[in-house]
Amino acid sequence: MDIKKLISRMTLEEKAGLCSGADFWHTKAVERLGIPATMVSDGPHGLRKQDEEGDHLGINDSIKAVCFPAASATAASFDKNLLCRMGEAVGDSCQHEKLSVVLGPAVNIKRSPLCGRNFEYFSEDPYLAGKLSAAFIHGVQSRNVGTSIKHFAANSQEHRRMSSSADVDERTLREIYLPAFETAVKEEQPWTVMCSYNRINGVYASENPWLLTEVLRDEWGFEGYVMSDWGAVSNRVAGVAAGLDLEMPSSGGINDRKIVKAVQSGELDEKVLDRAVERILNIVFRYTENAKPDTLWDKEAQHLLAAEIAGDCMVLLKNEDSVLPLHKEDEIAFIGEFAEKPRFQGGGSSHINCFRTTSALEAAEGLHITYAQGYSTKTDSATEEQIAEAVAAAKKAKVAVVFAGLPDVYESEGYDRSHMRMPECQNRLIEAVAEANPNTVVVLHNGSPVEMPWIGKVKAVLEAYLGGQAVGIATVRVLFGEVNPSGRLPETFPKKLSDNPSYLFYGGEGDTAEYREGIFVGYRYYDRKEAEVLFPFGYGLSYTSFEYSNLRLSAESITDQETLTAAVTVKNTGSRAGKAVVQLYVGDEESTVFRPVRELKGFEKVELQPGEAKDVCFTLDKRAFAYWNTQIHDWHVETGSFTVEIGHSSRDITLQAKVNVQSTVELPRHYTMDSIFMDLMADPRAKTALKPLLDGLRAVFAPAPAEETTEAASEAISDEMSLAMLNYMPLRGVISFGGDEKAEMMVQQILDELNKA
Ligand code: BGC
Repeated sequence: MDIKKLISRMTLEEKAGLCSGADFWHTKAVERLGIPATMVSDGPHGLRKQDEEGDHLGINDSIKAVCFPAASATAASFDKNLLCRMGEAVGDSCQHEKLSVVLGPAVNIKRSPLCGRNFEYFSEDPYLAGKLSAAFIHGVQSRNVGTSIKHFAANSQEHRRMSSSADVDERTLREIYLPAFETAVKEEQPWTVMCSYNRINGVYASENPWLLTEVLRDEWGFEGYVMSDWGAVSNRVAGVAAGLDLEMPSSGGINDRKIVKAVQSGELDEKVLDRAVERILNIVFRYTENAKPDTLWDKEAQHLLAAEIAGDCMVLLKNEDSVLPLHKEDEIAFIGEFAEKPRFQGGGSSHINCFRTTSALEAAEGLHITYAQGYSTKTDSATEEQIAEAVAAAKKAKVAVVFAGLPDVYESEGYDRSHMRMPECQNRLIEAVAEANPNTVVVLHNGSPVEMPWIGKVKAVLEAYLGGQAVGIATVRVLFGEVNPSGRLPETFPKKLSDNPSYLFYGGEGDTAEYREGIFVGYRYYDRKEAEVLFPFGYGLSYTSFEYSNLRLSAESITDQETLTAAVTVKNTGSRAGKAVVQLYVGDEESTVFRPVRELKGFEKVELQPGEAKDVCFTLDKRAFAYWNTQIHDWHVETGSFTVEIGHSSRDITLQAKVNVQSTVELPRHYTMDSIFMDLMADPRAKTALKPLLDGLRAVFAPAPAEETTEAASEAISDEMSLAMLNYMPLRGVISFGGDEKAEMMVQQILDELNKA
């Protein structure tokens, strides 16, 4: 298809029209030119294809589909292959349902436990979110349907989501809020990107040329089209100019007419419009030319895949006295409404109309289970009778398993949580059950961390997150040891909300949300603060044990243009088969900028039989050592020693090695009379040039020889102190403290010389 030629045959009105949706879910057709309409659909963890009346909040019914675990859960798998397989399954269902693009993955950073959409997001860590979303995109797009990575960018709160400005400094954007998108774009070229509702530093994402063109296309090389989040457009003409190609859903033609007018008046170059049309048509035809509506959508098989995926996402947080796995012959009490009606997905646009759900109670059929409802999510309360029934069931059982977590209204798209607590009735129930039976296990269904006031009273906790429609099967498999839990927390669980670094300013004031904690998000903050947490990033137990040994680096020293290989041996030292998640962190030992203690730069999931050992290899390039330098507006490595750590979590590092990394980039330097000696002396050239001056100044500050000094005077200022004071003295001090015009001229000459190079 010669798309450029096709565009040359389109009228201005047709071109402008193509840049917005025909309805809620379709791009426009131009029949006279053979341009077909294409359909998009939410996503991301299954299809929410609306046949009839559309809406963007999951209110009206959609087709029956398969609900896979939400991103909060799949992130805990730390498993790229798994995400890829899930993507392939979603891709197949898109082909079957004639969908050109699935709206996801959603990769916004979990900045605070309060964000209402945390359940849809992967992690507090951009590396993890980037790699897992790239794997999902790879899977979907291998089926010749597109993805729409969202919400670009810095959309980490629901509060005032359509008007609020995320005010984030340059380094924080580059290091925390953009890299997940960057990784996905550079590695997998998602067919489309969805811009977010919010503003970034005052400018709506939907009309932000820096974001949509400079960064996304010029720097990262994005080739697809950008669509707006549903209703995210404020100034449509500015949007086209900034790089927003498709407005969704549509503005009833109003914005199309504005585009036409802007072209006619010369405000908008027609070539810019043509470019947007070309990007949209590229994808429209890419899909239609590869459409395979006869692709089989085997929902039964996908239900089983959803169960398998959910099993690999569950995080075992506590397992005292190895109370888990349970034994099939034992009497077990399943307590709590979620055992019968699990919460396995969140509310809003990602809400899927499941063709089937399997609860833990159904999945455990045939085992010796007694069930007590314990609480009602409808009324968010527990009656005395419900608690008494639960306690009685717990007393009779060998082990009591309480299914708890957050009911739907507690977390959803559209609004944030106001606290991190679980429902009071559920906390009460857990306490009562734990009192009745010392072997109490809690299974949690939630999309984001919760406080656990009862943690010391229960023996085990299994974090199931929002595990999709087959979560019950997975839960029973993990509880009874058919699946060995291998999930790891993709986020820190703080002890309480106020420990979270964004706590003081999350949500913002009015429409200004300042991201004041900067790069110190999640474990980057807790580790630097040496703060106690409930469960750290990367943490999770297994029914077996793993040992890491023999960390080998390919070099002791590299330049920032070279790569480093780190190899480690991982061994299953327990008696069950299981999956280890080997995590690699990098830390800069000494740095002139504030940096986290460690940052995740590699992870691999490895399956091992008892006694089996395998080598795991990581490759680290410049980015693994770099920070974003705001002077050169680029990634920069400071020459020096870095630690490479291998751990079970960010708080359980078992191996460490060091590598020296040499920067090949010299940062530009410019000195003035206000430059201070400390900075000048750190530069060998400046140090030599300034030596004579420094000696003179030192005489002014250094204490007089001992015999001339009174005791009081020598106590007042030591040699060390005077030198330290000199550190912060600006160059102009040479003049302030006894200099003359000659000295000033001399300093100026030195400055000119230094600044020339
Ligand atoms: C959400 C998007 C979603 C879109 C379409 C919006 O409200 O923010 O994530 O894809 O609706 O349903």
